Amino acid sequence: MRAGATATLIEATPGAVPVLPLARARLRPWLARQPQAVRGWVEASGFAAEPGSVCLLPDEKGGLARVLFGFDADDPWCWAQLAAKLAKGTYRVDAALPARRASWAALAWALAAYRFERYKRPERADLPRLIWPKGADRARVERTAAAIRWVRDLVNTPASDMGPEDLAAAAAALARRHKAKLRVVAGDALLAENFPAIHAVGRASSRAPRLIDLAWGNARAPKVTLIGKGVCFDSGGLDLKPASAMKLMKKDMGGAAHALALAAMIMDAGLKVRLRVLVPAVENAVSGNAMRPLDVIATRKGISVEIGNTDAEGRLILADCLAEADAEKPALLIDFATLTGAARTALGPELPALFTPDERLARALLSAAAAESDPMWRLPLWPPYRRMLDSNVAEINSASDSPFAGSITAALFLREFVSPGTSWAHLDLFAWNATARPGRPEGGEAMGIRAVYRLIEERYGQGRSSLSAL
Ligand code: BES
Ligand code: MN
Ligand code: ZN
Repeated sequence: MRAGATATLIEATPGAVPVLPLARARLRPWLARQPQAVRGWVEASGFAAEPGSVCLLPDEKGGLARVLFGFDADDPWCWAQLAAKLAKGTYRVDAALPARRASWAALAWALAAYRFERYKRPERADLPRLIWPKGADRARVERTAAAIRWVRDLVNTPASDMGPEDLAAAAAALARRHKAKLRVVAGDALLAENFPAIHAVGRASSRAPRLIDLAWGNARAPKVTLIGKGVCFDSGGLDLKPASAMKLMKKDMGGAAHALALAAMIMDAGLKVRLRVLVPAVENAVSGNAMRPLDVIATRKGISVEIGNTDAEGRLILADCLAEADAEKPALLIDFATLTGAARTALGPELPALFTPDERLARALLSAAAAESDPMWRLPLWPPYRRMLDSNVAEINSASDSPFAGSITAALFLREFVSPGTSWAHLDLFAWNATARPGRPEGGEAMGIRAVYRLIEERYGQGRSSLSAL
């Protein structure tokens, strides 16, 4: 996996400061067993083992003897709070943690060290280091941390340095690392190869649109196909976004980042699947040849689409990819997309919206999400709302005029390009931390990839990795 993802986690070394995780209820019984000097100090410093709080215990020489840490079993990210509060130094967990908690301690610690460093030196170079907690599934933590950091880096990179070509280069580097096949269809070749919707959305940019198509694994293994919305910048097109809404739109390739990073995890673990990743990489720009409101465009599947709003571009490029993916009847088809503001209105920034017509898949995904503390919430593909997409001139309208149920109508649009028999799920996500939380700084963020990884692992065998440790 990519080096450095877990650089603040180190091999066992003597002299590390012990950290004792204490759930609030365990503080009193623990104190009762301590000498008066320790009890007095803990009391004087006001430490109550509040989740995430820290108490430094001195030794006789004025050094740091040990650290008490308010531990919250329900919040695996609490370990990131600890990492943020400790000074430079080497620490070790002074407790026997069950495997899952040990892995979480390591993952949260690793992610607390994330900084986006492409354009700016980090403010703090001397991050505290933790000796790998006993029982942590190191390979799993490393690949997970690397994947999440990669999503963050890809999303945080401004559109000036993350255009369609740069996104393709990122996919090419991934393919090289795992000996996957990569095919890129760019510019007018999209028309020749029948990806008309990707072309229509991306043609107005001076940076040519492209379809990135990565394939890996044994051709006879179950086919898992991931699709990620790769809008490198979403100006809205001729239906231009207001400044406030356009500002964050470098992150509109967040779905692509999710698909690529999840692919990295799957390949790194050697899961027994035939993996395919489809990323339509475009810039939704304004120009004389830009697609216009009420234009009618063709799609790969042959469904004609009236453009209700040029800012509803994501569903168009996903439509061509869904049709292509669906044609080879994958065992599982999952798309990731920063598709609608409406999903954020419904669920807020932290909770991806899950859409799937497959009840079994919904249950499996939601239980994987709970097991991974990687939440998502199901919204319905409510068939009556399909009428909001009726068009007088084409087979479907890309955007509803109704102010209601915007994320549902977007998902219903996508559904038109998937056969009823395909096990398909759509995740409408934010890919961004609006405010910083422990281990999750403001900026690009991975949402749902740990849950989907777990589902794929459960369904299709475990490759080189082990289940359930994280
Ligand atoms: N990329 C946006 C959706 C988006 C906006 C995601 C803000 C996260 C935060 C998408 O392409 C878009 O513009 N959707 C429109 C669709 C509408 C025009 C039907 C939206 O949600 O407003
Ligand atoms: Mn848009
Ligand atoms: Zn968009």
